[in-house]
Amino acid sequence: MSFPCMELNRPELFDFHGVSMTHYFTDSWDKVQNFKARPDDIVIATYAKAGTTWVSQILDLLYFGKSDPGRQTSIPIYERVPFLEIRIRNVPTGAELAEKMTSVPRIIKTHFPVQFVPKSFWEQNCKLIYVARNAKDNVVSYFHFDRMNIVQPEPGDWPSYLQRFQEGKVVFGSWYNHVKGWWEKKQTYGNIHYMFYEDLAEDTAQEIEKICSFLNISPMQEEKDHVIKEVAFDTMKKNKMANYSTISIMDLKISPFMRKGKVSDWKNHFTVAQNEQFDEVYQKKMANTTLRFRTEI
Ligand code: PPS
Repeated sequence: MSFPCMELNRPELFDFHGVSMTHYFTDSWDKVQNFKARPDDIVIATYAKAGTTWVSQILDLLYFGKSDPGRQTSIPIYERVPFLEIRIRNVPTGAELAEKMTSVPRIIKTHFPVQFVPKSFWEQNCKLIYVARNAKDNVVSYFHFDRMNIVQPEPGDWPSYLQRFQEGKVVFGSWYNHVKGWWEKKQTYGNIHYMFYEDLAEDTAQEIEKICSFLNISPMQEEKDHVIKEVAFDTMKKNKMANYSTISIMDLKISPFMRKGKVSDWKNHFTVAQNEQFDEVYQKKMANTTLRFRTEI
């Protein structure tokens, strides 16, 4: 998909129902809210930069790696797994791509906080996989992404970005509210599998087993071995259909989409003072939850 990049400007953040958003993710709000989910749809939900693409590639391979092996090397990830709420002028919206999909199941990505998810996904009792990543690595990844992506607001310098992240003044709002909101929803809605980037990094095979069990699928061991091989960071980094090198809104020379793929890269960015300040804010914002993250493995 080629984007008319020259016409795109970096957007402004604004408050949208209490969440910082940009128009690229609210312009098709009505259409997205009226999206007709099917019972076998699978949603991958994440705060941005938490491992969406990694889990998208895993699911696509689990479902279609055997029946349609050419798919992963010929169709970019953003067409195999449409991004529900995105709308960029002159290209099909995420919702339109999802509506046109003929493969079953449809695997659909969203970065919405839980309260923004269209109601038909709940009504159809769809399965949703939420991937969460520790806040420190998440903010580092997001900072570099915003530097290289023209449809994201201007990130400014690292210290100011870190501050704004803690205030929820980045696209999709507060990381703290996002991870907690989905965690709370999981307590009442049975069809959410809540998983962590750090666990996936530590033991990919085990996390794939858990995904299969949640989805009620039983691939052969050789299929699972194939998935594990294909979703290794270095393999995905080289795969043009997974590394976003075919999309013109991103300047991968500024920072690659497949940047580090590590747990604890935050240690290369946070100063001692920034880390102390971040921890202090974190304790307060996460005091009212049982949710626990690992910032190293
Ligand atoms: S997006 O734009 O929100 O959909 O981005 P998302 O895919 O959620 O997150 C991108 C970060 O995930 C890393 N990544 C991986 N890490 C390990 N292994 C694999 N296979 C993998 N695929 C993607 C990617 O490198 C980004 O993290 P950082 O820390 O920036 O490297």
